[in-house]
Formats: sequence, C-alpha cells, structure tokens
Amino acid sequence: MAKRIITTEKMSEDVRLESSLRPQYLRDYIGQEKLKSTLTVYIEAAKKRGETLDHVLLFGPPGLGKTTLANIIANEMGVDIKTTSGPAIEKPGDIVAIIKGLREGDILFIDEIHRLNRQVEEILYSAMEDFFIDVVIGTGGTNAKSMHIKLPKFTLIGATTRAGMLTAPLRDRFGIVSRMDYYNEQELKTIIMNSARKLSVPIDAEGAAELAGRSRGTPRLANRFLKRVRDFAQVTGDGHIDGEIARYTLDMLDVDRIGLDHIDRAILTTMIEKFAGGPVGTAAVATTIGEDQGTIEDVYEPYLVQIGFILRTQRGRVVSREAYEHLGMPYPEEKQ
Ligand SMILES: Nc1ncnc2c1ncn2[C@@H]1O[C@H](COP(=O)(O)OP(=O)(O)OP(=O)(O)O)[C@@H](O)[C@H]1O
Ligand SMILES: [Mg+2]
Repeated sequence: MAKRIITTEKMSEDVRLESSLRPQYLRDYIGQEKLKSTLTVYIEAAKKRGETLDHVLLFGPPGLGKTTLANIIANEMGVDIKTTSGPAIEKPGDIVAIIKGLREGDILFIDEIHRLNRQVEEILYSAMEDFFIDVVIGTGGTNAKSMHIKLPKFTLIGATTRAGMLTAPLRDRFGIVSRMDYYNEQELKTIIMNSARKLSVPIDAEGAAELAGRSRGTPRLANRFLKRVRDFAQVTGDGHIDGEIARYTLDMLDVDRIGLDHIDRAILTTMIEKFAGGPVGTAAVATTIGEDQGTIEDVYEPYLVQIGFILRTQRGRVVSREAYEHLGMPYPEEKQ
C-alpha cells in the first residue's frame, strides 16, 4: 500500500491550525485531570519558593497534547521556552550552546527525546542533575584540558511516544513523569466545541458528538476532522455543522463509526486473513501492508489496544473477538 503523501501546503495549513487552536493556560486544557491537578501543585510550589520547576517527562501516543502542555507549563511559570527535538541535536556542542543560551528558570523542550544520540544524552545527565557540564577541549594527550561549565538552572521537558526507549539514567533524572491518556468522548466534545468557537463555525451537539466519537481519543484528530467538516458544511450546506454533515464527511474520509481509518482496518484484516488472527509480531504485519513498523507501534496499535481490538500476549499480538465483530468477520470456531 502506498504511503500517504502530505504536501507541504497541507502540512503548513494543518500546523497553522494546530497552533491557533492550542490552549495557552491549564484552565483551558481539557481532560488529563490527574496530570493537571498534580502539575498545578508543582507549578504553584515552585513559584512560591521562587525555584525552577523540576524536569518533566511527558509520554503517550501522538496528538494527545504533549507539545501543548509544554507550552502551557512555560506560560504558567511565566518563563521562556526553547523548543527542539532529539534528532535535531547532533553534537554535544549543540546541546551545550542551547542550554547556555537559556536564562535561569527557562524551559528547554525536547520533543522525541528518545531519539537523542548517546553523546548528547550523556551531557544531559550532569546538566539536568547538577547544572554543569565538563567538556574536554583539545585533541587528547597533553593538550587535552577539561573545562567545568556552569549552566543556568533550567527545566527540561521531554516528550516521547516511546517511554520504553528511554535509557534508565535519563528517565531517572526527571522528577515529574507523566503519562498522557486518550481522551473520553465528553472531553473531545468540549475540545471540538471550543475549537469551533475559535474558528467561528456553528456546530450543534449532535455534530460535535459525532466528531468526538470518531476521533480515536485524540484532540489532534478531533481538530483536523472539525476543519474538514467545516469545508464540507460551507461548500455543500449552509456552513452549519450538524450530525448529518459530520457523518457524511467522515464517511468520505473513510473514517468508520468508531474512528478507525483504512490503515487500522488493514492492520486488523491482515492479522486475520494472513496470520489467522495471531499471535503475530508487528514486523510481519508491517511488511505485509507496507507500513513502517514504528508507525504501526506508535500511532496505530496503541489505540487498537486501548479499545481492546488487539491483545498483547507473550507470543505476539492477537485480534480480539470484538474486532472480528466490528469488521463483520466470523470469529473462528477453534478460538471460541
Ligand atoms: N487537552 C487539550 N485541550 C484542548 N486541545 C488540545 C488538548 N490537547 C491537545 N489539544 C489540541 O490537539 C492538537 C495536538 O496537540 P499537540 O501538538 O500538543 O500533541 P502532541 O502530544 O505534542 O503530539 P505529537 O506527539 O504528535 O507531537 C493541538 O492543536 C491542540 O490544540
Ligand atoms: Mg508534539
């Protein structure tokens, strides 16, 4: 199957939309209640003591609001945030330059932190723990000199879709470690209503519920679908979003009643038809449908596991009876 191609034009439009819809403060951030209430305490406490906030690690599937939350933390603390990503930091010198450019209390946000290279990561250990680094200057032998550089006290916020890929020494240096959960339909509905207000597009409760139910627990998808439905509503209707136009658009987008798209369904049908419903490994499924294994594990599988369509067993992934039923496929006798 061909990879989906996203042109830069569409990307930039989506990226623009995404930042315009981002809540700026915790009070506007919907859901993740436990995380929000603990963060509120840590932020208040740090502010009261006039201290820098402890390092924060956010992990969970894409589009659940990690980047949004990092920016909110900066706003709540009243500090600047510098954003970079694991693969963008190539040399130890790069990370040293970035941290030295921060002011006391500032936030360094590293997205995809599991993709830092080893040398850069090792620099972070002492930088995070004791706010210094030792760098060796010169070519070695008698010329080599070690320099002790003091750094401003900063807060590192790391985001990753794969907490399991972080090394233990790095993970242990985060004082606050939080898992982002999928959003429930009510929360998504609220997010959609808020976004619709910001985009000045009228939407009724049924329309919002329809979108919420098909957004796979993911605000990014909810916002993206809202925008697509708005297009349809403006071109084929009177601009108003109701249940009917929402259903029509999502059917056109090949997003089914519970939010699965053609790749989700390809994963499940391949597991059923080619691998007898499992147990099977993601590598084999990925090869068969021509998707990237990492994408399947990070983007698709977590939600299918969350709704109980895929079960993780010691011998591999297994398709559940509910998934067979959803796809309208008979559940094999021998599995009953
Ligand atoms: N709790 C929330 N309340 C309202 N909107 C949210 C919330 N979480 C996320 N969003 C919206 O969802 C979109 C995606 O969020 P964000 O970019 O922060 O996700 P992410 O977890 O960083 O994703 P990725 O892992 O792909 O980088 C943003 O447009 C944001 O407005
Ligand atoms: Mg992000």
